[in-house]
Amino acid sequence: MELTPRQRLIVALDFPDVAAARRCIDALGDDAGFYKIGLELLFNGGSELARELADQGGSVFFDAKLLDIGNTVERAVANIARLGARFLTVHGTDGKTMRAAVAGRGTSDLKLLAVTVMTNLDKEDLKEQGIDLSPSALVLARSRMALDCGMDGIVASAHEAALLRQELGSDFIIVTPGIRPSGSPVGDQSRIMTPEAAIAAGADYLVVGRPITQAGDPKLAARAIVDDIERARS
Ligand code: C5P
Repeated sequence: MELTPRQRLIVALDFPDVAAARRCIDALGDDAGFYKIGLELLFNGGSELARELADQGGSVFFDAKLLDIGNTVERAVANIARLGARFLTVHGTDGKTMRAAVAGRGTSDLKLLAVTVMTNLDKEDLKEQGIDLSPSALVLARSRMALDCGMDGIVASAHEAALLRQELGSDFIIVTPGIRPSGSPVGDQSRIMTPEAAIAAGADYLVVGRPITQAGDPKLAARAIVDDIERARS
C-alpha cells in the first residue's frame, strides 16, 4: 500500500532523556507518527519508550547500529523485534552480521536497514582502515551485499539515493538523514538536501531532527516538511 507523506517522515528524538522526548512527541501530536530513537536515548530509557510508542500504535526506528558476533546480533535483534520496533539499523560492513540480523528478525515485521559507510568518513579515513575505495564506491558495494544478505534497505545520504536507486532497483528501502528545509540552519550536517529534493532523488523515508525538534513551532515545521514530501511525490 502507498505510504502517505506523513508516514514518510521520521522524527529523530535526539534528546538526553525520555521526559524531553515525550515533550516533543506531545508537541507534535498527530503531525508525526514515526520516531527514531538513537544511542543517546537508548541508554537512558529509550527502549522502554520504544515499546510504549509501539504499543500505542506509533512507529519506531530503533537506531542501534548493531555490530557483534552472529550469535549476539541474532539474539539482540530478536529482543528488539519483540519491542515492536519497525526499523532497526545494523552495520553493513560484513555479511555475517547482516545474515544473523535477518535470522534474529524471524517472522516479525521488523525491517532491517544497513548502515553502509558512516557519512563522517572520507577517503582518507577509509585508507586508514586499509580500504582503497572512494566512500561512494564502498556505499554501493556494501548496499549490494546488504540486499544479497536479505536486508530490507539502507540508510544513505540523499546525495547517494539516486545512484543507489538506479543501480539497485526499486525494491528496497532508502532512508535519508541530513535533511534541511530551505532556510533552516545547517548545524553540523555537511551534505544536506531539502525534503523535496531528497524524495525526488529516490528516498522513501526522511529522518529529520533539529529542523523539527528545535523549531519554535515543531508542529508547523513537521507539517511544512510533510507538505514538501507531498509536493515531491505528486
Ligand atoms: O538534527 P538532524 O536532522 O541533523 O538529525 C539527523 C539524525 O540522523 C540524527 O539522529 C543523526 O544521528 C542521524 N544521522 C545522520 N547522518 C547519518 C546517519 C544518521 O545525521 N549519516
